[in-house]
Parts: sequence; structure tokens; C-alpha cells
Amino acid sequence: MLPLKSNAFTLLLISLLATSAAVLAANIPLGSTLYASDPNSKWTSPNGTTLSFITDPVDPTSGASLFAAITFNNIPIWKAGGSSASVNSSAVFRLVASGDLQLLPSSTSTTPVWSSGTGNLSVTAVALEDSGNLILKNASGSAVWTSFDHPTDVIVPTQSFTLRHTLSSGLYSFKLQENGNLTLLWNDTVEYYNSGLNSTRNFSFTNPILDIRSTGILTLSDPTLPNPLDLAYSSDYAEEGNILRFLKLDNDGNLRIYSSAIGSRTQIERWAAVDDQCQVYGFCGNMGICSYNDSNPVCRCPSDNFVLIDKRESRKGCKRKVELRDCPGSETMLPLEHSIFLTYPPELSSQIYYIAISACMSNCLVGATGSCIASTSLSDGSGQCYLKSSNFISGYHSPAIPSTSYMKVCGPVMPTPSMAGTGGGKGKGWRLTAWLVVVVVVVTLLGLVVVEGGLWWWCFRNSPKFGGLSAQYALLEYASGAPVQFSYKELQKATNGFKEKLGAGGFGAVYRGVLANRTTAAVKQLEGIEQGEKQFRMEVVTISSTHHLNLVRLIGFCSEGRHRLLVYEFMKNGSLDNFLFVSEEQSGKLLSWEYRYSIALGTAKGITYLHEECRDCIVHCDIKPENILLDENYNAKVSDFGLAKLVNPKDHRYRTLKSVRGTRGYLAPEWLANLPITSKSDVYSYGMVLLEIVSGRRNFTVSEETDHMKFSVWAYEEFEKGNFYAILDKRLPRNEIDMEQVIRAIQVSFWCIQEQPSQRPMMGKVVQMLEGIIEIDRPPPPKAATEGSVGGTSLYASSSISAPSTFAASVPAPSSSSSLQTAGISSSASGKQVYRESSSLLHIDMDTK
Ligand SMILES: *[C@@H]1O[C@H](CO)[C@@H](O)[C@H](O)[C@H]1NC(C)=O
Ligand SMILES: *[C@@H]1O[C@H](CO)[C@@H](O)[C@H](O)[C@H]1NC(C)=O
Ligand SMILES: *[C@@H]1O[C@H](CO)[C@@H](O)[C@H](O)[C@H]1NC(C)=O
Ligand SMILES: *[C@@H]1O[C@H](CO)[C@@H](O)[C@H](O)[C@H]1NC(C)=O
Ligand SMILES: *[C@@H]1O[C@H](CO)[C@@H](O)[C@H](O)[C@H]1NC(C)=O
Ligand SMILES: *[C@@H]1O[C@H](CO)[C@@H](O)[C@H](O)[C@H]1NC(C)=O
Ligand SMILES: *[C@@H]1O[C@H](CO)[C@@H](O)[C@H](O)[C@H]1NC(C)=O
Ligand SMILES: *[C@@H]1O[C@H](CO)[C@@H](O)[C@H](O)[C@H]1NC(C)=O
Ligand SMILES: *[C@@H]1O[C@H](CO)[C@@H](O)[C@H](O)[C@H]1NC(C)=O
Repeated sequence: MLPLKSNAFTLLLISLLATSAAVLAANIPLGSTLYASDPNSKWTSPNGTTLSFITDPVDPTSGASLFAAITFNNIPIWKAGGSSASVNSSAVFRLVASGDLQLLPSSTSTTPVWSSGTGNLSVTAVALEDSGNLILKNASGSAVWTSFDHPTDVIVPTQSFTLRHTLSSGLYSFKLQENGNLTLLWNDTVEYYNSGLNSTRNFSFTNPILDIRSTGILTLSDPTLPNPLDLAYSSDYAEEGNILRFLKLDNDGNLRIYSSAIGSRTQIERWAAVDDQCQVYGFCGNMGICSYNDSNPVCRCPSDNFVLIDKRESRKGCKRKVELRDCPGSETMLPLEHSIFLTYPPELSSQIYYIAISACMSNCLVGATGSCIASTSLSDGSGQCYLKSSNFISGYHSPAIPSTSYMKVCGPVMPTPSMAGTGGGKGKGWRLTAWLVVVVVVVTLLGLVVVEGGLWWWCFRNSPKFGGLSAQYALLEYASGAPVQFSYKELQKATNGFKEKLGAGGFGAVYRGVLANRTTAAVKQLEGIEQGEKQFRMEVVTISSTHHLNLVRLIGFCSEGRHRLLVYEFMKNGSLDNFLFVSEEQSGKLLSWEYRYSIALGTAKGITYLHEECRDCIVHCDIKPENILLDENYNAKVSDFGLAKLVNPKDHRYRTLKSVRGTRGYLAPEWLANLPITSKSDVYSYGMVLLEIVSGRRNFTVSEETDHMKFSVWAYEEFEKGNFYAILDKRLPRNEIDMEQVIRAIQVSFWCIQEQPSQRPMMGKVVQMLEGIIEIDRPPPPKAATEGSVGGTSLYASSSISAPSTFAASVPAPSSSSSLQTAGISSSASGKQVYRESSSLLHIDMDTK
């Protein structure tokens, strides 16, 4: 019985293997033709990849537009002639006897819509592979033309995308640049996306090749690189299953990674290059204004002075009811509050002025050349004004945008029913000054509405009805800077059911989420909150009213039943530790000295603000590289401030070791000595971080090189010998280093890590020292020389922590950067761990005494 069964199975297996091994590709004889009129006319590879006529997947209703396309798992991955080569049902696709592939409008026509141009390359064989590649070969078997080498709008795994290639879709195109940057262009000119590798190194590649792995990573390889660089991950990266993942330039101008389970016919978006669809230039066509309804970008016209070009397809843009040339001398400016006209290179460089809002408007209206048709005043404090004179403008409206824009129209200005409250007067003949007054009044009224709304929220915030309404008020509040209250359901939806974890910290796990206005956010699920609802809200208000360029901004919160969540702005580049403690292979991520210094300074400024400049002083209590996040321009932003108080609200006098939330290596000695924690404790932690920024090494690593001392202790000895290069990160190229800055940073760090809190400078002074505004004295050894010092007595007298077993257990492990997160809020050691780690700090201190 058993042998028989297994024999049958073996046979089956062999026959299966034979069929799949024998033909990997369909061979197509010269002279073959496909007919658009015949749905069964197709060339098919063994696994079902086909070349046939398909209807336009974007607009399936118009049966007129057909494409000759290669489809894989029912997804078009290549189109003969691209998206502009649409044909009708009389078309044919022919492999002519000369070896040329042609798309012809009809079987009798001789002028192709598209041809491969291989007529004189002696093509003898054509094959369609399972992978989706169509290959034309000559007699000696070399591929003279492949569809993979002529991509249209999709790249699939095993396909290489190089400098020669372009993806295009409508007016949009995608290119790779010599420095490895990916760029998206509108009409071959406007560069609305240019993003590179996640490091600041200056790459110059010889032959960069972009490809998408079947696991869902977008990688860049080059002969000059030992390993390929990972550029982007799909959100279902490496998930199991028979899944096709592909990169596509969509006709809305966004570049996305999709995944499609084999056999499912559906495709799911997993990554998009442009987070905010409204920032894609021309998404709403000429003079169209992009904004968001609950979840989707929608296109509208600026006002009733305009009509949609195509009522059914709002993305085609708008046109004026009265053209400007038909009303010479009676043009006026239509004001558009909270709106911006997108301005990208190459326009960006030539069109910026620094003038007041009113001048930004009137200069456009009465400009000497008369070619200006619109203007945008950024109102973000920069005083920037763009005057738009090109014949194409692309608008974006959102309550969160501070800019005001103006558009030249033939007067009178008509209202905008769909964008209520964006300004604009009624009646005829408004003089410039007259309606400037109107604008001021409207803005004031809006301000009153916001204040009123805020009061209303304050009064009714506990009402159960409120939850449902919060989404509508969310944008308004976000714009006004007040914390937005989210319902738990909303955050569940925004984070896709808490799916994409960015990290897990001592205060709770952090997830990536996308809010209703399409901004990406980091959602932190707090754990171990000992506070009541009211206190929690008060802390949230304090945290969210703390605004600084170098602090991560709190957008909102959720407090519902036992759920306590905080919503922060999302930081694209993740935390500093990922860039300091990188392994050999990842050396591409190493930060240059210039960036390190600006991060050190930015961090110091952020902490200074917390300590000295904001209303309620905040002691951070957990400064470390994991809590210093970097935005897309590598600006440092301190995160997690105010949380220590939230989680452990008790007065420091009742502080127990268990509640210490700080992290090994960064904790000031007074934490262990049961002495008051002050802002000077943060200064100590900052000093350790500064030393790590200089050295690229954890301050507590112990190694052969450091004579088996803690790095920070060894570093001081080298400093005394004047050996600055020993302390400095050896991976930094010497010619890029400003030695004066290095010496300053090293001295500042030793001042900060003085054991006596009173010896440490205030954070504000640290900033001045780093900036070179004040002279720095030579720092004494960080360990206090005087006997009976703070640490010296109480550190060892503290009986609560002197269990011998914990000393033995705590060998300081040289920590390699274990964090796997790619972005977002960092992790910190859990409370329990800290208990042990604190002891290990003590242990080391004793060693090195
Ligand atoms: C298809 O288009 C061609 C011109 O490109 C035209 O001559 C022909 O009549 C059209 N056929 C159909 C069925 O619409
Ligand atoms: C093929 O023919 C075209 C003109 O018909 C010519 O320009 C091209 O150089 C030829 N290519 C080869 C490889 O001979
Ligand atoms: C073709 O199908 C076989 C069996 O289903 C599978 O093992 C193989 O990976 C497929 N090849 C491609 C290129 O999809
Ligand atoms: C086939 O093409 C390759 C490369 O283009 C060329 O070197 C070879 O001579 C060609 N063979 C024939 C038989 O034309
Ligand atoms: C695209 O660019 C071309 C030439 O650069 C220009 O003639 C055309 O008007 C542009 N298209 C649009 C929609 O502006
Ligand atoms: C490459 O992309 C980075 C952002 O990732 C940008 O700062 C840089 O300017 C780009 N380089 C070029 C040459 O455009
Ligand atoms: C990058 O390289 C270019 C030319 O190779 C140079 O002009 C530029 O200054 C470099 N940028 C940095 C940040 O090193
Ligand atoms: C940056 O690249 C490294 C490898 O080169 C990769 O591990 C990391 O995930 C990338 N980060 C982002 C944000 O893409
Ligand atoms: C938002 O816009 C999309 C696309 O126009 C539409 O399908 C959806 O129903 C709209 N949602 C709401 C809540 O209006």
C-alpha cells in the first residue's frame, strides 16, 4: 500500500517537474499577429504571463482605449508604446517577418503606432518568459531587444532600472540620477520629488541599478558598493506567501510599491514615494486646487470665477469663465486662505521674493511685465513670496497650511461655495484696500471661531458625543496648535490596527499611522500610566504647548477608558543611534562631522528650551541617542520629553529605584544617590551623548583599546595627553573635520559629565560654548577629586541597591546597535531592566575609581 502510494506521488512529481522545466517561455513564431477584436488572441507563457490587448485599467468604461500589454497575474506590467499608445478594436499587434514588433491601428495599415525598431537586427526567435520579459533574439542567441530594457510604468522583480531608463505615465516620469537619487518629474521639467539615500554621504556611482526584490525592498546596487543599499521597504516586507511585489509610477504622479497575491487579481499599496498626494505637481490639473475630504485627495476650482474643464474628471483642471486677455485693466486678485501654489525646481530658484503679504499680492496684480497670474505668500515667518508667471499652476488647500495665495481673475471675485470661509467678497468694484479689510475681518472672525471652538471643546470634552466629532475639528485644532483629541477608534484606523511597529520603548510601543489629513504620524501607546484622566490631560496640554524647532511636536492624544495614547509628528530618519553606532556594512549611513555638530547643537538648543525657556520647566530624565530623532534634513529633534513626569508623577522625594526610567550609561550619579533630580541631571546625560556624537562609540563600552576602562573615562585620559584624534570617530574622513569644533565639543562634554551637579554648566551655557560665543576653560576630571563628594558618600551608602548578586550579574555588554527600527520614536530600556542596569553603572564606577 505504502510503496504504491509513494510511487504514484513520485511519478506525479516527475511529470510536474518535467512540464515546468521543459518550457520556461512561450516561443512566438515570426509573422504571428494578435487582434484587438478577438479577446482570445494572446501569447501566453507557461505560468500564464500573457501578451494581449487589454482595456485601459484606469478608465475601463471607454472601450475605445485598448493597449497591447504584458500582464502578470492580471496586472499590466508593460504596455507597447506606453500610456499614450492607446488604440481601438481594429488594431493589431504583429511580429513581422523582419523581426520587428509593431502595434498597428488596423490590419491593413503600414504606419505603426509603435514599433520595437528591430527590423534590421536579424531577429530569429521571440520568447515571452514567465517573469514577464519579452525577448527578441538573433541567430547566435543574444537578446537584441527585451521589454525589461524598455520599461513603461512598472518594474517587477529581476528587472533592472538604470540611468538609461525612464518610467512614464501621462505627463509624469520617474528617473534615477547619477548620485542615486530618485526623481519624479512633471512634463519633464518640474521636479516635485528628489529624494536620495538615507545618508548624507556624497555618493558618485558608476552604474547605479535600481531594482525591486520579490520580498518588497527597493535596492540600489553599483560596482562601487560592496553591498546593495536599501532605499525603501514595502509595508508587507518579507511577509510570507506567493506575492508579486512591483514598483509602479501611477498616473496620479506617485511612485508606489504594490503587492498582489498570486491569483487574487487585487493589488494593495504598500509604499508611496510622496506621502502627501496633494504635493504632486499638477495632480489637479492647471489651476486646480487639491485638498482632502475625509480620506482622499479631491480636486476643485479656486472659485466660481472658474469651471472644471471636464465635469466627470475633476483632475483635468479648471479654466477661467472670462479669460484675462478679455478684461484688460479690470483684473483683481482672488484671495485663497490656507492655500499654496506648489513651487518646485527649476521654478523655485528664480521666483522667490522677500516681501510682505500685501506686496506679494499687489506686485502680482500690477507687476511690470503683467505676466504674473498668481502669487503665494508663505506667512510662515520667512517672508517668502512666489510670483507665478508660468502658464500652469498647481494649488493645494489645507487648514494646516499657513500660506495665503492670490490668483489674478477678471473681477468681480466670486465666492467659493465648496471652500466656505476661505475669503472672497461679494458685489462689484472692490478696491484693493477695501477688500484687504475684508480679508482682515474674515481672518479675525476665523480666529474667533477657533477660540470659541476651543472653549466649546473645553466645556464639552467629557461628553461622550464628542468623540465622533473630533475628526472634523482635528484639522482646525492641528492648525491652531492645540492638541487634537483622537478617539481610540480613529487611531486604530490610522495605524491600520496597530500594525506597523516602529519601536518599543519604556513608555510603550510606537506605531506608524496615517491621519485623516494624510500626514504620517507616530502613535505611542503608553503603558503604566498611574494618573487619572484629568492629570493626564493637563500633562498633554503642557507637552503640546512646548514648541521648538528641536523638539518633536505632539499633535494629539487619546484618553479613553484605559487607553492612553500620544500622537507625534513622524520623523523620517529615525533616531540618532542608528547613525552613530553603525556596523561596517552600513557605513553609508555614517553622518559627516558637519551634520554631527549641527545635531549636537540642535539637541542642546532643544533641551535648553525645555529647561530655561518654556513656561513650565521640564526635566527630560532620559536624554540618549535613541531619544534624539532626525527629520528628513537631519535636524535633531528631542523626543519623549515630559513623559517621565506623566508616568511617574510623584515628587522626586518619593522616588524609588524601581521608578528610575533613565538608561544605563546616561544616568547622572544623583539618580543612584537619591539626591534631587534637577535639570543638571539632563546636562550629564547630554554630555554623554555629545561624547558619543564625537566618538561614534557608546560611552560605556569597555575594550582592549580603552585599556579595559569605560570609554568616557579613557577618553578623558587621552584628552589630558592632548590626543584628540584618539577620541574622534576614526571613520570620519579627516579632511572634512573642523578640529576646532571637535576640541570644543570634547571639552564641553567633559564639563557636562562632571560628577558634581553644581560643576556642570546650564544647558544655555552649553549652547554658547558650542557656538564658540564664550571661552571654554579646561575641564577638570569628570570624577570629583574632593573627598566626601556627593557621589562619593551617598552613592555607596545607599543600602537599597547594594545587593551583591546584582553586581555579579551586571557585566557591561558592549552594546552593538540592536535597534532594528527604521524610523520613528525610539526605544528605551524597560523599567525592570533599568533596575539592574543602574546597578551595573554603579559597578563600573567602583571599578574605575
Ligand atoms: C479605429 O481607429 C481608426 C483610426 O485610427 C479608424 O479608422 C477606425 O474606424 C476605428 N475603428 C473603430 C472600430 O472605431
Ligand atoms: C537599422 O536601420 C535603420 C534605418 O532603417 C538604421 O538607422 C540603423 O542604423 C539600422 N541598425 C542596424 C543595427 O543596422
Ligand atoms: C511557475 O509555476 C511554478 C509552479 O506553479 C512555480 O514553481 C514557478 O515558481 C513559477 N514561475 C514563475 C516565474 O512564476
Ligand atoms: C547577435 O547579436 C550580438 C549582439 O548584438 C552580435 O554580437 C552577434 O553578432 C549577432 N549575431 C548574429 C548572427 O547576427
Ligand atoms: C509641457 O512642456 C511643453 C514643452 O516644454 C509645453 O509646450 C507644454 O505646454 C507643457 N505642458 C503643459 C500641460 O503645460
Ligand atoms: C538627493 O536627495 C537628497 C534628499 O534625500 C537631497 O537633499 C539632495 O539635494 C538630492 N541631490 C540632488 C543632486 O538633487
Ligand atoms: C558632493 O559632490 C559634489 C561634486 O562631486 C560637490 O560639489 C559637493 O560639494 C559635495 N557635497 C558634499 C556635501 O560633500
Ligand atoms: C537606510 O538604508 C539602510 C541600509 O543601507 C537600511 O537598513 C535602512 O532601513 C534604510 N532606512 C530607511 C529609512 O530607508
Ligand atoms: C472623498 O472623495 C472620494 C473621491 O472623490 C470619494 O470617493 C469619497 O466618497 C469622498 N468621501 C467623502 C466622505 O466625501
